[in-house]
Amino acid sequence: MPRVTVIGTGYLGLTHAVCLADLGHEVLAIDVDEEKIAKAANGEAPFFEPGLEPLLRKNLDSGRLRFTMSFAEVGGFGDVHFLCVGTPEGESGRAELGYVYSAADALAPHLASTCLVVGKSTVPVGTARQVMNRMQAAAPVGRGVELAWNPEFLREGFAVQDSLTPDRIVLGVTSGRAEPLLREVYSTPLAAGIPLLVMDLETAELVKVAANAFLATKISFINAMAEVCEQAGADVIPLAEALGHDARIGRRFLAPGLGFGGGCLPKDVRAFRATASSLGVDSVVSLLTTVDAVNQGRRDRVVALAREIAGGRLAGRRVAVLGVAFKPNSDDVRDSAGLAVCDRLAAEGAIVSVHDPVAMPNAAKMRPGLRYASSVPEAAERADLVLHLTEWSDYQAIDPAALARVVARREIIDARCCLDTGSWRDAGWSVHVLGRPPGGW
Ligand SMILES: NC(=O)c1ccc[n+]([C@@H]2O[C@H](COP(=O)([O-])OP(=O)(O)OC[C@H]3O[C@@H](n4cnc5c(N)ncnc54)[C@H](O)[C@@H]3O)[C@@H](O)[C@H]2O)c1
Repeated sequence: MPRVTVIGTGYLGLTHAVCLADLGHEVLAIDVDEEKIAKAANGEAPFFEPGLEPLLRKNLDSGRLRFTMSFAEVGGFGDVHFLCVGTPEGESGRAELGYVYSAADALAPHLASTCLVVGKSTVPVGTARQVMNRMQAAAPVGRGVELAWNPEFLREGFAVQDSLTPDRIVLGVTSGRAEPLLREVYSTPLAAGIPLLVMDLETAELVKVAANAFLATKISFINAMAEVCEQAGADVIPLAEALGHDARIGRRFLAPGLGFGGGCLPKDVRAFRATASSLGVDSVVSLLTTVDAVNQGRRDRVVALAREIAGGRLAGRRVAVLGVAFKPNSDDVRDSAGLAVCDRLAAEGAIVSVHDPVAMPNAAKMRPGLRYASSVPEAAERADLVLHLTEWSDYQAIDPAALARVVARREIIDARCCLDTGSWRDAGWSVHVLGRPPGGW
């Protein structure tokens, strides 16, 4: 079996390393962040991901998974090296590729025998070939370094399940050598019938950004329909349900609300728009500009609604914010719609008190100026308005009658369109749901 290394142990890389070890591979993982490596080697996941930590411990105990900070050790160990470093948003929305190139530059001088480097990070089309040329020029083994691209589609909150049983495995290759090696690495999911799609490097890079652009478009489409419903006095929830029953459309990614955020969709949409602009593909530029604008517009809409409920001014109003993780079952607050709403509320002088079941430590690092409450009642104490911004199941289990006793005014905006509005209204709350008629349903 090929020996595997994983470069970058963030959300993607750590999950990938743990899951490959669980599939029976010898895995050595590296990161430049000493604290992350120390924690992982000690069996602690440096972020919240359901099911990851027990699997990390199990595979550390088995001896199949190890961590290091030495690129020399990684270079000497691996037959297959997975590049999993970050590609955050850079200037003008372009993907920042500095981490990819610095990881490639750190590894290449230690590649003395034939090996395969496999990119998993999300990159603009054309990056893989540049990484390959750069690594072949710097590696002692020269053209003995082969490159492949194997984009990752995991969802935070379901990362372990998605890594062990993905919907499909996509491989971008330059010769017939990479595919058999990667078939060995993924032998268990392939034996279970997971489809394998092999293509050229450029197409594999594009599959990932095209998939994210499509998902983002679907979300912005239903949110644009929510805007129409708000103006027309119609209801986006039955509209979405009726659309979703059409097998050609499907129900998934059709939930109206506050829109998308997180470390992937927003930056991937902007990076793809920048790539399309460089390629002169104006149709994609204008499509993705609209998708992004609709998405940002939902954040403004929540603040406008909050202002309206507050009688035209938010200054001095107490607002309880429930949820700042970009999605439930994650502690990720990168490009969090919830934090963006908090920023706008605070800028208008509102007194914002934030609660989130797991994301508060990350939120506090990013927004130290906000107030954080250790419980929902504490956040809602004397609140003029409650905002439901992340659809954690904990919030769907809130007793509206109990919460009514601590607030100053029983006003709630359900920006994720998933609370049981009937029980909230029965407890005396005015419930405002994005895209639904006021006072209805
Ligand atoms: N998070 C997701 O759900 C997800 C899903 C699919 C694809 N992706 C893509 O995967 C990539 C990584 O995303 P992430 O969310 O894991 O990011 P992350 O920021 O959580 O992790 C990136 C890691 O790379 C490390 N790193 C940076 N430079 C390095 C170097 N030179 N050598 C070794 N390690 C280095 C960082 O210290 C960090 O731990 C991105 O391209 C992202 O778009 C992410």
